[in-house]
Amino acid sequence: MATRYGITTAVKVNGVSQRSIWADPAQGLAWIIDQSRLPHRYATRALASSGDAAEAIRSMRVRGAPLIGVTAAYGVALAMTDDPAEANLDAACAELAATRPTAVNLRWALDRMRAHLAGSLPGERAAAAWQEAAAIAEEDVRVNRALGEHGLALILTLQDRVRRPLNILTHCNAGWLATVDWGTALAPVYLAQLAGIPVHVWVSETRPRNQGLLTAWELREQGVAHTVIADNAAGHLLQRGQVDMVLVGADRVTRRGDVCNKIGTYLKALAARAAGVPFYAAVPGSTFDWTLEDGMAEIPIEERGGDEVRIVHGVDPGGAPLAARLLGQAAAVANPAFDVTPADLVTGLITERGVCPPDAAALRELFR
Ligand code: MRU
Repeated sequence: MATRYGITTAVKVNGVSQRSIWADPAQGLAWIIDQSRLPHRYATRALASSGDAAEAIRSMRVRGAPLIGVTAAYGVALAMTDDPAEANLDAACAELAATRPTAVNLRWALDRMRAHLAGSLPGERAAAAWQEAAAIAEEDVRVNRALGEHGLALILTLQDRVRRPLNILTHCNAGWLATVDWGTALAPVYLAQLAGIPVHVWVSETRPRNQGLLTAWELREQGVAHTVIADNAAGHLLQRGQVDMVLVGADRVTRRGDVCNKIGTYLKALAARAAGVPFYAAVPGSTFDWTLEDGMAEIPIEERGGDEVRIVHGVDPGGAPLAARLLGQAAAVANPAFDVTPADLVTGLITERGVCPPDAAALRELFR
């Protein structure tokens, strides 16, 4: 694919181009990278039923708003392969919709699958579902690529001002692992790297699930300069002028531009504002929830299990999985998985249609 910057491919794992999810309709399987094993072990896993797809989303073997949506779409295809009856479609969609509450891409993908299958005969449903799931996956790649080019233009402008490697702070993982390919927040970074524009990424660890380690793994595979920091270091770096731009993904953005993303994003936005550093969210169209206005009041925030806070996971010196308890089972913990950054702390939203201020009228016009 020829592009504005003449970039054609993105190198991924061990130098080989790789997607986060792919389908084998002939075998009735969808394949994923099991992200619960990363960054310590690269393992793939077959999903053979919509129940497998729901489990993979619930347990965060797949994660990231766009990939959650695509996995749910393939979950519907798996359900229709198993039994194309209307009752099974209802049951599969209900199970998939209940897996995680915050990322709106899940509802978006299920609605789109249902609309596509409406009126099709049971005998045609499986093929139609695989086709539509694949179309959603391909669209995700195209959208992220387009979004990446708009973000790249922004990076070029900022880097031109500083005339040294641009320091970008990101949070969680909004890279290709969180989508089908390219990522959202990391798409402009990969395009910058491929275009030879010097960037350095501050990667915040993202307790308690440590998705920052996935970001570091991606960036290492791609050869992008990066440094992992504890979440609490971000304010200090911003204050000292060591960050030129904050760039994150999103799980749901309201029509006025409130940005819901991984817990800890809001604190970074506050610190960025105090330091006079621009804060951007990279948001594909499927992540906007046009039904909502006030993100703080209206977006459901997932509360995850307390053991994610009580117990940390890693590997021993030999690489074997290891769990270490930080707190006793009786310790009271809270584990909200997302927070909302109000639109007035957001400098701009990077979308596949261009960069837009977080403003209801401007967004409506952009996505008319
Ligand atoms: O809980 P997760 O890992 O699914 O949360 C992911 C995020 O918060 C990402 O930043 C967001 O989904 C954007 S992914 C392109």
